[in-house]
Amino acid sequence: MDWIARRLEVIEPSPTLAISAKAAELKKKGEDIVSFGAGEPDFETPTHIREAAKNAIDKGMTRYTAVSGTVELKDAILTKFKRDNGLEYTRNQVIVGTGGKQVIYNFFLATLNRGDEVIIPAPYWVSYADIVRLADGVPVLVSASKENEFRISPADLEKAISPKTKVLILNSPSNPTGSAYSRKELEALGEVVLKHKLLVMSDDIYERIVFDGFEFCNLAMISPELKELTFIVNGVSKAYSMTGWRIGYGVGPVEIVKNMDTIQSQSTSNPSSISQAAAEAALKGDQGCVLEMARAFQKRRDLIVRLLREIPGVEVNLPQGAFYVFPYLTGVYETQGFKKLSASSEEKSKSKLFCAHLLDKYKVAAVPGIAFGDDEALRLSYAMSENDIQKGVSRIAEMVRDFSR
Ligand SMILES: Cc1ncc(COP(=O)(O)O)c(C=O)c1O
Repeated sequence: MDWIARRLEVIEPSPTLAISAKAAELKKKGEDIVSFGAGEPDFETPTHIREAAKNAIDKGMTRYTAVSGTVELKDAILTKFKRDNGLEYTRNQVIVGTGGKQVIYNFFLATLNRGDEVIIPAPYWVSYADIVRLADGVPVLVSASKENEFRISPADLEKAISPKTKVLILNSPSNPTGSAYSRKELEALGEVVLKHKLLVMSDDIYERIVFDGFEFCNLAMISPELKELTFIVNGVSKAYSMTGWRIGYGVGPVEIVKNMDTIQSQSTSNPSSISQAAAEAALKGDQGCVLEMARAFQKRRDLIVRLLREIPGVEVNLPQGAFYVFPYLTGVYETQGFKKLSASSEEKSKSKLFCAHLLDKYKVAAVPGIAFGDDEALRLSYAMSENDIQKGVSRIAEMVRDFSR
């Protein structure tokens, strides 16, 4: 039976979710797995946010809401943009969705025609390219080299633009590398964006997790002209440790928001009313919990980067934000042991082979770099205790030692 639609031929299940699921399954079977796979904070959702959700249930906020979110949450989002970014929007420029992921998905469904090109700096978050393909667009990958700390230059951007280019995706701080663009770098990219009148999808989901006093900036904050061309995606998942609550939001041009609303009205309707009340409390409440979590992530970043740099053949960048590192394994791929493993395997992707062996023999889950567009690397999420970081990295070191014997 030919039941499955052709559009499924161009996409794959999210590899990060698949690896997290596999690690969870092995753990459930009693195996001592250290999982660097999951892209979610390990903290409890702060108490005042959980209380707000309980109150919402008790007060009967259990009905459908407006498709694009409650007025109260939209106002909290408007306040957030004013407070954190100095940006003013109106209610009809805001849409709330079931996670940032749905907002991104609906943004591309609302903006792309068949064949429209979307520029994606690589390494990139796994879902961008597949969402673009599902929306009939064409992902155009622009390599952001590790020498340039995974940031594209204005010249890189200029080279990738064609008459079919419609959207540029910027994700800062980035998943998977943790790199972030400074205001100055964004100003330079902004000139190219203005020259070609590109529409920009700025994925700011890791905005609040930044280190060493890094000052977050996005393109809309550079100038009113760039603000007109920018659609910002953000959410409560990462900043407030609320991944399961599924609330994301977007702000931008009224026309785009209106059409995203139409799409949402014919698919999922409003996101959970209870989660919306919780997100409102998160955005309006004391922001101390966010800073506390960011401080813990910075300590863990320092630890994991230091430990990984002690492993021969591994090269690591110093992330400015998010909770991922993207170590390069080029030196490890050169070892006799890895070459032997590679020769005995059908697997063509080195990073997939490395990760499969790591999970199978050393009980550590990590995501192959190829999932993010770079087979030389590995993505490790350090949203875990310092003990687990130590345990997991020492197992990676053991595997590399065994390869070198
Ligand atoms: C770069 C990036 N954007 C968006 C999302 C979506 O997050 P959520 O749907 O939980 O809001 C994620 C989650 O992993 C992400 O890493």
